[in-house]
Amino acid sequence: MTLLITGGAGYIGSHTVLELLSTGHDVLVLDNLSNSSRESLARVAALTGRTPGFVQGDVRDRTLLDRLFTQHDISGVVHFAGLKAVGESVREPLRYYDNNVTGTLTLCQAMMAADVHRLVFSSSATVYGDPASTPISEACPTGQPTNPYGRSKLMVEQILQDLAAADPRWSIALLRYFNPAGAHASGRIGEDPRGTPNNLLPYISQVAVGRLAQVSVFGGDYPTPDGTGIRDYIHVVDLALGHLAALDYLQRHPGLQAWNLGTGTGYSVLDMIHAFEAACGHAIAYTIAPRRAGDIAACWADPGKAARDLGWRAQRGLAQMMADTWRWQSGNPDGYPGD
Ligand code: NAD
Ligand code: UFG
Repeated sequence: MTLLITGGAGYIGSHTVLELLSTGHDVLVLDNLSNSSRESLARVAALTGRTPGFVQGDVRDRTLLDRLFTQHDISGVVHFAGLKAVGESVREPLRYYDNNVTGTLTLCQAMMAADVHRLVFSSSATVYGDPASTPISEACPTGQPTNPYGRSKLMVEQILQDLAAADPRWSIALLRYFNPAGAHASGRIGEDPRGTPNNLLPYISQVAVGRLAQVSVFGGDYPTPDGTGIRDYIHVVDLALGHLAALDYLQRHPGLQAWNLGTGTGYSVLDMIHAFEAACGHAIAYTIAPRRAGDIAACWADPGKAARDLGWRAQRGLAQMMADTWRWQSGNPDGYPGD
């Protein structure tokens, strides 16, 4: 039995493929490499001693999907493939809805035709919008995401809820990630954003390695202890392990469930900068800049439901997240070769 991993060459996907291979699963990756490189999976193969199947192609290509489901004995799908840059989604909404919404529709149609009904979907804490209170549990209502990227995730969640309600054969996990960060402890795979990073930790680490001059801290006047935004940063290896726990749960439980994958602890932007300084051993230049449009002040998870249902909890703390990021960034200052 094989698991189909869409977007498996990307940041979270490659770490999940590594954990799946390490625990004996057979894996087939489908990725169009629009935001990743083959090198991540070559390194996963070197680290695990096992080579994942790989097909370069698009999740919106129904003919290709039908062929993959016919040729391989696929028992479930982890669906990472999608576009994720918030600012880009504002400028190119149709591209985002097509990739993220049409991509998922096409995948589900192909799964139905192939009689495969186990699906783990990469959702996001962004579906909660600006939360009324923290920590955020799954019982909190989904809110109004402030951009097309966030709306595409909420739309897909709603589509999958309708699908599970209509057909009891489906077992679906909506995994609402908080802020993925860190890298594999080997330092061989990690986050390799194309162009200037949008997210905080890759930005800090590129300043630390000398690729960028200084971090702009977006807002120093939020109603938080140090005035900067608070998020729940979760180590990407913990996040990857959450997918294994969800896949296991779905084998025994039909229906649809949403789970927060976060740590339950929030850190401010300045906390993150100072923790990175401790990991890399030198100061990180930063300046307080105006707030970024669409940002919220604070957001962290109540991870209790995942602990109760899945037996999963994040194990890796902030210091390890920073040490692993620095090992990856300092060993690969320009990311994967050939990007
Ligand atoms: P990533 O860009 O590193 O990985 C996504 C992968 O999907 C890439 O390898 C890309 O080439 C591939 N892809 C994109 N569109 C495709 C298509 N149409 N067909 C085939 N492959 C396609 O991003 P990531 O950080 O690993 O995120 C994985 C998933 O998790 C995404 O769906 C993202 O929206 C979601 N997510 C990410 C974060 C985050 O902060 N990283 C937070 C919440 C949710
Ligand atoms: N920040 C800065 N400077 C930067 C980048 C970010 O100060 O250069 C701040 C932001 O203002 C925010 C925090 O760092 O307070 C985290 O920002 P990120 O851009 O890293 O992450 P977001 O919380 O905005 O969003 C991320 C993903 C979304 C996902 C969401 C889930 O980008 O895709 O987490 O919580 F939906």
